[in-house]
Amino acid sequence: MSERVINVGMMGFGTVGRGVYRILKDNRTGIEQKVGARIDIKKILVRDLAKSRSIVPEEGILTTDISNIVDSAEIDLVVEVMGGINPALEYSLRALRHGKSLVTANKDMIALHGRELYEAAEASGCDVLFEASVAGGIPIIRPLKECLAANRVELVIGIINGTTNYMLTRMSKEGLDFHEVLKEAQELGYAEADPSADVEGFDAARKLAILSSIAFNSRIALNQVYVEGITGITAEDIAYADELNYVIKLLGIAKNSAEGIEVRVHPALLPKSHPLASVNDVYNAIFIRGDAVGDVMFYGRGAGELPTASAVAGDVMNAARNLLKNVPGMISCTCFEEKPVKPMSATSTKYFVRLNVADKPGVLAGIALIFGNNQVSLSSVLQRHTSGHSAEIVLVTHEVLEGNFQNAIKSIKELPTVQQITSVIRTEGD
Ligand code: NAP
Ligand code: HSE
Repeated sequence: MSERVINVGMMGFGTVGRGVYRILKDNRTGIEQKVGARIDIKKILVRDLAKSRSIVPEEGILTTDISNIVDSAEIDLVVEVMGGINPALEYSLRALRHGKSLVTANKDMIALHGRELYEAAEASGCDVLFEASVAGGIPIIRPLKECLAANRVELVIGIINGTTNYMLTRMSKEGLDFHEVLKEAQELGYAEADPSADVEGFDAARKLAILSSIAFNSRIALNQVYVEGITGITAEDIAYADELNYVIKLLGIAKNSAEGIEVRVHPALLPKSHPLASVNDVYNAIFIRGDAVGDVMFYGRGAGELPTASAVAGDVMNAARNLLKNVPGMISCTCFEEKPVKPMSATSTKYFVRLNVADKPGVLAGIALIFGNNQVSLSSVLQRHTSGHSAEIVLVTHEVLEGNFQNAIKSIKELPTVQQITSVIRTEGD
C-alpha cells in the first residue's frame, strides 16, 4: 500500500456525490494501484447535516462550512457535485484560487462560466476536469481532447438527453402521446416535476455548447446554440416517420465548415439505418466524424448515480496523478481559435412537413409553387384523404437553406386553402 495520500474535499452528497463516495471506497485498492496514492475523501459539503441519508460517512466528514474545503491546507483537490450556478461557481473559483484542482459534473456552470474557471485554474496552475458534465458515464471530453486531438472534427451528432430519448422511444414503441410518456418519465424519476430543461432542449443545449467548444477548439456560448424541444412531437409524426423509414430523436448537432460552425438542438427524423437510430430508452450516444479517424460512436448511460460518478472518479484519478507528478495544470483549455457561428438562416437541412388543406383541385400545385419560388425542392409527397373537405399532405424536401424554407412556410400559412400546418421537423443523417 502506498504512503502517499491525496485528500479530496467534495461539495455535494446527493445522487452523484454518493456514487463518487461509493466508487472511491469500494474500488479503493485498484484505484490506489492505478494512481500510486490513496485517495481519501476528507470533507463533504452538504446543506443539511440532519438530513437522513442512505449512506452515512464517518463522523466529522460532513460539513456545512465551505471554508473546511476550499480554504483548508489539508485538501488537495475539490470535487463539485452540488449543481446550479451559485454558490457552486463562487466555491469552485475560491478552490482554484487557493491552488486546488477542480473536478465537476456541472454542465450549467461549465457551459456558462467555463472560460472564467479556466482562467482561474491557469492563474494558479490547477486542473479543471468535467468529463461527467456531458453524457454522464460516457467518456467523451477526454477522448476529444486527447485520443482524437490529431483530427479536424467535422461533425458531432449526439443523443445527449436521456429523459427525452426515453420519452421518444416509448412514443415510438407504444404509440403513446407526449403527455402520457412525460407522466411515466416523471414517475420513474427520469424527468423532474418541472421537466422544461429536458423537454424544451435546454439540458441538451448546455451539453452541446461544451461538446462543440471542445470538438472545434472554439468557445461556443450557450446563447449561440439554436434550441427546439420535443413538446410539439406527436404520436402521428412518429407513425409517419416510421412509414418513411425514419425514427424521431432529439439531436444535438454541431458542424464545422469553412463558412463557420453550426450548433443546434432540435428533434429530427433520422434514417433507421443511422447508427444513432437504434439508441433507445435512457441511453445516450455521440457520433463524431474526424478527417483522419472517420466515423466513431460513443454509447452508454448519460446519467445516474454510478455511471456519472464513474466519470467524476476517473477525473479525480487523473487530477491526482498530475498532483503526484507535480504537473497540475497540464489539462488546459483547448479553445484557442475564434470561429464564427453561422446564423440559423444560413444552415441547410431537409424538412418533413405535415399540413391539412382543403381537398380540391389546384391546392397541392399552389403549395408546390410557393416552395419552388423559394428554391425549396421537394423529394416526396404523400396525400391522405382525411375527411369530407379536408386532406392531409405529408412532404419531405431536399436539402434546403433554412431561411428559404422559413419564407416558404410563412407564405404557405397564409394560403386560404391551408387549414393548418401540423408539423415541421428537420431530417438529419441521410
Ligand atoms: P442532488 O442529488 O440534488 O445533490 C446535490 C447535493 O449538493 C446535495 O447533497 C445537497 O446537500 C448539496 N447542496 C446543494 N446546494 C448546496 C448548498 N448551497 N450548500 C451546500 N450543499 C449544497 O444533485 P445530483 O443529481 O447529485 O447532481 C449534482 C451535479 O451533477 C449537478 O451539476 C448535475 O447537473 C450533475 N449531473 C448529475 C447527473 C445525475 O444523473 N444526477 C448526471 C450528470 C451530471 P443536501 O444533501 O444537504 O441537500
Ligand atoms: N436530465 C439529464 C438527462 C440527465 O435526462 O439526460 C442529467 O444531465
